Formats: sequence, structure tokens, C-alpha cells
Amino acid sequence: MVRTQTCPASAFPPKSPRQSCLGLCSGRRFAFNQAIWPSRLVPSAVPPFNKEETVKVSVFGLGYVGAVITACFSRQGHTIIGVDTDAFKVNQINAGKSPIIEPELESMLAEGVQAGRVSATSDFKSAVLASDISMICVGTPSQADGSIDLTYIRRVCENIGEILRDKPSRHIVVIRSTMLPGSIEGTVIPALEKTSGKQNGPGFGVAINPEFLRESTAVKDFYNPPKTVIGAQSVEDYNQIAELYADIPGPKVHTDLRTAEMVKYADNCFHALKIVFANEIGRASKALGSDADEVMRIFSLDTKLNLSPVYLKPGFCYGGSCLPKDLRAITAAGRSQGVDLPLLSSITQSNDAHFASAFRYLMDLDAAPIAVLGFAFKAGTDDLRESPVVKLIEELVKAGKQVRLFDRNVSPDRLIGANKRFVEAHLPHLSHLIVGTVEELTAGAKVIVIGNGNEEARHLLPSLASNILVVDLTSGGLKTVTAAQVWRPCA
Ligand SMILES: NC(=O)c1ccc[n+]([C@@H]2O[C@H](COP(=O)([O-])OP(=O)(O)OC[C@H]3O[C@@H](n4cnc5c(N)ncnc54)[C@H](O)[C@@H]3O)[C@@H](O)[C@H]2O)c1
Repeated sequence: MVRTQTCPASAFPPKSPRQSCLGLCSGRRFAFNQAIWPSRLVPSAVPPFNKEETVKVSVFGLGYVGAVITACFSRQGHTIIGVDTDAFKVNQINAGKSPIIEPELESMLAEGVQAGRVSATSDFKSAVLASDISMICVGTPSQADGSIDLTYIRRVCENIGEILRDKPSRHIVVIRSTMLPGSIEGTVIPALEKTSGKQNGPGFGVAINPEFLRESTAVKDFYNPPKTVIGAQSVEDYNQIAELYADIPGPKVHTDLRTAEMVKYADNCFHALKIVFANEIGRASKALGSDADEVMRIFSLDTKLNLSPVYLKPGFCYGGSCLPKDLRAITAAGRSQGVDLPLLSSITQSNDAHFASAFRYLMDLDAAPIAVLGFAFKAGTDDLRESPVVKLIEELVKAGKQVRLFDRNVSPDRLIGANKRFVEAHLPHLSHLIVGTVEELTAGAKVIVIGNGNEEARHLLPSLASNILVVDLTSGGLKTVTAAQVWRPCA
């Protein structure tokens, strides 16, 4: 399995004075050379192309994705053969016309055809034989039950595989279509292996390079992508595909197939979530007399906590004294105003489902006692109010599990106020379960639950015997452990 890495130095050996890893990753070498642009493209986002080191690519499917990458890669100096079963689209491309309406596309395709860098055909064989890489951009529509339909992907792979049977040189098949994790291993590779008679790896390469363009700004997006993600099984395949993006700025990531497949879904789910979230805050704002546009404008000014990677690491449930309480308040206000807020109302449900999966996992373990290291809402505090770890301990104790606890910052004698009241209501046996040191906690324990990002865990994990089961409810910072098995809620 290829480990995820962002622009590894080895993946980008400097090839010429104009290329270096730094230059490719940072995009600082991306020359915005307006002087040599054809005047009709100014002031577009299209940079000048580089004529050195071009790649020959066959693009299967000349719809939105296929037509855009045909035009843009050819503008970079690469030779592109478009393939589609739709004769109209093939004829359009060969006539230098765009099969879709998209700013700048038609002039770029016309330029590519005129320069001999773009052609289109319905003849799969000539296209595959004349190229080193095939990029598949066919549709992956929904079936009636919502599941993904990979019929077009399978069919194209079978067609390509039949041609690869007689192609002497190694070919790489790159999927640009959006497909669920496991689709390459479950559909693409079997189809190619069966029809080509060759073996994935030595016989041919497979990769996934998800597409992030947005219709209406597709050309601009191509030249200024948020990232380039390539799921490839070897550094050599990755390098060959990355060559196509040599002058494109932004981070370039080499990762494994299933991660690359999933990234596109994480992106699209998040984009849909953002839209629905903004609309629900808008409806709630309106109902409560706030200015919705102004609320979201001010919200977006916060690039530390709101529009940032903070809170985006898979880990354990949210809790504490604010998030649960404030979600309850806003959804109750929505109900009282007759405003439907299904997204905000379902957040608690999702948090509960996450809690239940960890609880079930611990209940199913046939090992005792369970030692919980760190159970305050956040490491470095003694705040236990609505700590999801306290709730987990409470449920385990109720279910008859033998549990012992340690948290450097929590001592039953020092609890006061709301903190004390919360513990008395939810974990009255706390003082009987707490031990005084990490050593007492771990002595004879078969399971260690890391409840928060406490320092002790960082030091303890590497020294644990390999037969101790570690259940790490946190994320970040505690990645290196030597215990034989580490279970995390999302990994
Ligand atoms: N449209 C977007 O903005 C966008 C953005 C990112 C990713 N995607 C993903 O990219 C994929 C393609 O999307 P699209 O919008 O370009 O689709 P599309 O429907 O516009 O184009 C698909 C093309 O594939 C052709 N085709 C079908 N079977 C074929 C075959 N056997 N051989 C050759 N050509 C064949 C069709 O004739 C059609 O021209 C989908 O998985 C989609 O989810 C789309």
C-alpha cells in the first residue's frame, strides 16, 4: 500500500532546469507569461504551454470532464486522442468545436486541432495503441436505488483490456470518473486482467486521479486546482501521470487507490453539507430576526476555527459544556418558530451513532479490566461536563464491565460546582474507579482506552506490551504505537 504523501521529493526528481520539487509543489515556478499568450485568450486563466516532454493520452468519454481535460492537457503541449461512442461529439472535436458549452473551451480545442495535438475517434484500438496513458471520463450515474452504476466504466475497461492483449508496451489506465472506494480493485482491475490476459502491475498500471473542476469555471479550475490527487500503486506510475501536471500549481498528493477514490466523496459531501448548513443558519437567522448574510459573512471571517482544518480530524464524539447545549438551544428555537432544521437536528443523532459504535466495540471485547487513560472533556482540563468519555465509562459500568480510570487533572476531592454536580448525576462511583497513577492504571490491564489527547498516552503507548489492546478514541498526535492492535473509531 502506498502511503499518502504530499509531493515526496523522490516523486519529483528534477528533470530540467525549469522543474524542481519545490517548483512543482508550491507552484512558484508557474509562469504567468502574458506576453506570449494568443491575444484572444487574454485575460483568461490559461497559461502558455510547454513543448518539452509531452505525454500521449487517450481520453475516453468526451463529456464535461473529458472535453475539458482534452483541451487543457493539449494546451500544455500533450497529444490527446479523444474517444467517445457518440459520433456527434467525435465530429465536433475534430471540427475544432466543443461538444459542451464552457467558457474558453472551444477556442482551446480549435487551437489543439489546428496544431495537431487534438484529435477524436470512435476507434478504441487506434487510440490505445497511439497513447501511453488512457484517462477514463465516462459517467458513473445512480441506479434506481441510489447505488453507483459502473456499467460504462466496466465496458470501457473491457474494451481497453482487449487492445492491451496485443500491445507490447506497458499502458496506464487512469480513472477520472468519480467512483466509490474499492471500485478499482473490484471492477477496473478484474475487467482489464480478464480481457488483456495480463496482470495488474507488471502487465499494466491502474490509477485514479479524481477530477475537481466545476462546470462554468472548468478551464480556470484546471489551471488553478485546489489540489491534484493521484492514487497510484507505484511511484513510477505516479511520476508518469504527474508529468501531465508539471506546470500546474497547488499541492500534489500521491496516495493509495481507496484513499484517492474516497477523497472525491469527502469533498462533494462537504460541499453539499456547507450549502445546506448555510441555508439552515439562514432560515434560523431569519426566524430569529438576525441578518443571515451578515451572520455568514462574519462566520466566514474566522479562518482559525470555522474555515480551517480544525474539527476535521476523525476521532471521538463532540461534547463539553457548549456544543451539546447550544445545538439543543438553536434546534429548540427552530421548533418553536416552526422552522425546519433537519441538518442541525440530526447532528446529535450522528454523534450518538458514533458513540454507539465505540461502546459496542468495547462491549464485544472479551477482556477486563478496561483502563481509561484521560477522561476529561479535553486534555489539560478537569472539565467533565458532557464529556463523551465520561458517558462511555458510565455506560460500560452500567453494562457490568470492570473499569478503572486515570486522568492527571481530575481528582474527585477537587471537583466543584457544575462539574461536581455533573459527576454526581452521571458517574457517582467515580471515586471508586479512579486510581492514583498511570502504573496502577495499566497494571494487569488487558485493554487501554485513550480517552483524550493526554501527554501520558503519548509516552505510554510505545512501551506497552504487544498483547495489550489499545483503543484510541482520539486523533492526531498519537499515531505511533507499538501495541499489537490499535482500534480507532474511524480507522
Ligand atoms: N461534470 C462535472 O462537473 C464533473 C466534475 C468532477 C467529476 N465528474 C465525474 O466525471 C465523470 C464524467 O462526468 P461528465 O459530467 O463528464 O459525464 P458526461 O455524461 O458529460 O460524459 C460522459 C461521456 O462518456 C461517453 N461514453 C459513455 N460510454 C462510453 C464508452 N464506452 N466509450 C467512450 N465514451 C463513452 C458518453 O457518450 C459521454 O460523452 C462522472 O463520474 C462524474 O461524476 C464530473
